[in-house]
Amino acid sequence: VDLKTRIDPENLPSHIAIIMDGNGRWAKKHARPRIFGHRNGVKAVREVTEAAAEIGIKYLTLYAFSTENWKRPRVEVNALMKLLVETLHKEVATMMENDIKLQAIGDIEKLPKPTYLALLEGINTTKNNQKMTLNLALNYSARWEILEAVKGIVRDIQTTDMEVMDINSELFSQYLSTKKVPDPELLIRTSGENRVSNFLLWQIAYAELYFSPIFWPEFRKKHLYEAILDYQSRERRFGKTSEQLV
Ligand code: IPE
Ligand code: IPE
Ligand code: MG
Repeated sequence: VDLKTRIDPENLPSHIAIIMDGNGRWAKKHARPRIFGHRNGVKAVREVTEAAAEIGIKYLTLYAFSTENWKRPRVEVNALMKLLVETLHKEVATMMENDIKLQAIGDIEKLPKPTYLALLEGINTTKNNQKMTLNLALNYSARWEILEAVKGIVRDIQTTDMEVMDINSELFSQYLSTKKVPDPELLIRTSGENRVSNFLLWQIAYAELYFSPIFWPEFRKKHLYEAILDYQSRERRFGKTSEQLV
């Protein structure tokens, strides 16, 4: 069956967010070190990015490194940071060919210098691309992001004519790192874990959640198509009744 042709182009999520999980367990299954899993995870990133751009997804946000991930063994953290530099250098050309704009969310200034610089370079090189935005969550935590928004709002109330009364959902969203991006309609997590792990807590308020048992290094285009088809089979009611939607 051709999953791709069954996707309704009129009912695509504009923004898909993915918690890429299961690299370590995939490596363990193959009796290899965890970093082997991360390296093979890059293939999945490439496939999914290409597939998303091809079918017309406008924003793809990938959770690549959480603030909590600093707690991992130092060798693993170092290897991941190195892999990011390598991958960014290698993939910028592909992003240029495919008209993909790179962006990042998270406390990226606290990344190791080489990773931070590779990221800035990728963002700068691809800044005029239009087809799709690939947004990497790096040193990201949703609670950090929400607290930063609170600080920004308090600062603006103290220093501008903004008032407490002006605070509403729209305004609050403008203080998040996703301010110019629509909320994800679809959140995917791989590897069979059914949790959100501090990812986009504000933005996923009404997202459809899709949990896949596949380990991230094995995630391929068809798995993304399956997730989108599942999304398209759902009724998004936003508090209304089914009858009100027709
Ligand atoms: C996801 O895979 C990648 C990162 C968090 C960087 P994991 O490394 O969490 O893989 P598991 O969960 O241990 O299998
Ligand atoms: C979430 O995966 C973070 C990323 C995918 C980058 P983890 O594997 O770190 O999540 P937990 O700790 O199992 O919840
Ligand atoms: Mg994990």
